[in-house]
Amino acid sequence: MVELEKNPPQDDIVVRAENVCRDYEVGDMTIKVLRNVDLLVRKGEFLAIMGPSGSGKSTLMNMIGCLDRPTCGAVYVMGKNVNRISDSELAKLRGMEIGFVFQSFNLVSRLSALENVELPTYANRRPGIDVRGKARELLDLVGLSERMDYKPTELSGGQSQRVAIARALVNNPSIILADEPTGNLDSKTGEEIMNIFTDLHRRGRTVIMITHDLQLANKYADRVVYLKDGVIDDRATKVNAA
Ligand SMILES: Nc1ncnc2c1ncn2[C@@H]1O[C@H](COP(=O)(O)OP(=O)(O)OP(=O)(O)O)[C@@H](O)[C@H]1O
Ligand SMILES: [Mg+2]
Repeated sequence: MVELEKNPPQDDIVVRAENVCRDYEVGDMTIKVLRNVDLLVRKGEFLAIMGPSGSGKSTLMNMIGCLDRPTCGAVYVMGKNVNRISDSELAKLRGMEIGFVFQSFNLVSRLSALENVELPTYANRRPGIDVRGKARELLDLVGLSERMDYKPTELSGGQSQRVAIARALVNNPSIILADEPTGNLDSKTGEEIMNIFTDLHRRGRTVIMITHDLQLANKYADRVVYLKDGVIDDRATKVNAA
């Protein structure tokens, strides 16, 4: 029997978290990291998530990114309830719909920039796609056409993050998830990276970014939500002018 969802997902909503909790069992203790989190993210939105260290931002991001499932409540990503699909379907959803960018770039050191960008396509093979051509095009888009054959150790932090952004885009995901993407960069390089995200956002991509930098959040995001002790502080949620 098909079970009807209480609140069916709407077309323009890419992420819907409903009453989400995430508990961790450590020894005989239960740590409640996320508590009754509700969040809607619309297609094409640029959302910033802020909050103190340990407030649960990355935990929430892992849920949105299909790396983890909630202990209670529901998370829908592109209309799919992550608790109702198999591990392999979850991995497929993640591979096709989510592009990740991390603070520490997470590039594979023995691969060139070009090979790093190609990497996510191996787990999500789509016949007929010119992977090398696509990777070159994306490195060009992030301003790295001169550095395609460089290894990560031969790149600056800003250049490495550009490679990571190109890699995040290679499967043409609906949602870019960035966990403190400018955290390891100086402010000028950070602004350059933010300009790339802004450009992606203008082209219709949904961007969800964790940041500790209020100025960056206010300058670039459409909306800023605050997490505190695993709870979204609605009074602090801020919608920025377009
Ligand atoms: N696998 C785990 N097992 C137990 N506790 C965990 C686990 N992962 C995270 N936590 C706890 O959950 C809380 C939230 O962690 P999380 O990484 O989401 O915080 P954060 O807001 O991203 O912090 P930061 O700004 O420092 O990155 C922390 O107290 C952390 O210790
Ligand atoms: Mg974190």
